[in-house]
Amino acid sequence: VADSRTSVVLVAVDRVLLDDLVEVATTRASADEVTPPLTPGPEWSPVRVAWLRSFHRDRRQGLDGPAGEATWAVIVGRHVVGSVRLKRIDEDGVLETGMWLARDTRGRGIGTAALAAVLQQASGLGASAVRADTTAGNTGAVGALRRLGFTLNRGEGQTVRAVVSLAPQRPDTGHR
Ligand SMILES: CC(C)(COP(=O)(O)OP(=O)(O)OC[C@H]1O[C@@H](n2cnc3c(N)ncnc32)[C@H](O)[C@@H]1OP(=O)(O)O)[C@@H](O)C(=O)NCCC(=O)NCCS
Repeated sequence: VADSRTSVVLVAVDRVLLDDLVEVATTRASADEVTPPLTPGPEWSPVRVAWLRSFHRDRRQGLDGPAGEATWAVIVGRHVVGSVRLKRIDEDGVLETGMWLARDTRGRGIGTAALAAVLQQASGLGASAVRADTTAGNTGAVGALRRLGFTLNRGEGQTVRAVVSLAPQRPDTGHR
């Protein structure tokens, strides 16, 4: 999936890409943007790095694996710039998504292009809708979600829940 300025590709996180991903996350993104608040303070800690490694490793089997979740590296021009994920949730047919990008790559349309690629993946995986949870102050996330047709609903406090329905996939008849 490409937009007019950048060609953004999603690639499954193998061992080599995981090293790149961890390097990008720890040097060019905040720990709080990538991992839960596992250790006090906003900094990267060994616990948070270990969490990030096992997070992707444990999701290599994808949506039908034990974690019910798939992750990809976001690649622009052969370089890893971030990560996206899709997860099964209680609602039938709905997948939940999330993403982060390297700080120095934000605000250039890459997030929107990566989210468009995620929607394509979700559609290919048979989902009927995709959900994303963010906060009202997250301008980039809110902007990308709006641009791709999500409906945004304000929840408690600053929380925003966004949902988009996906067009049903045409069955592949094998004829072209
Ligand atoms: C959220 C995130 C993935 C968005 O990716 P991005 O590449 O920065 O977003 P884009 O450049 O595609 O911009 C998306 C929209 O937001 C707007 N936008 C982006 N950054 C902005 C900024 N700093 N100020 C104002 N508007 C901004 C863009 O103009 C665009 O809107 P438009 O289509 O109407 O022009 C990225 O900023 C990020 O990794 N943030 C940290 C982690 C995070 O918050 N993840 C999401 C958790 S829900």
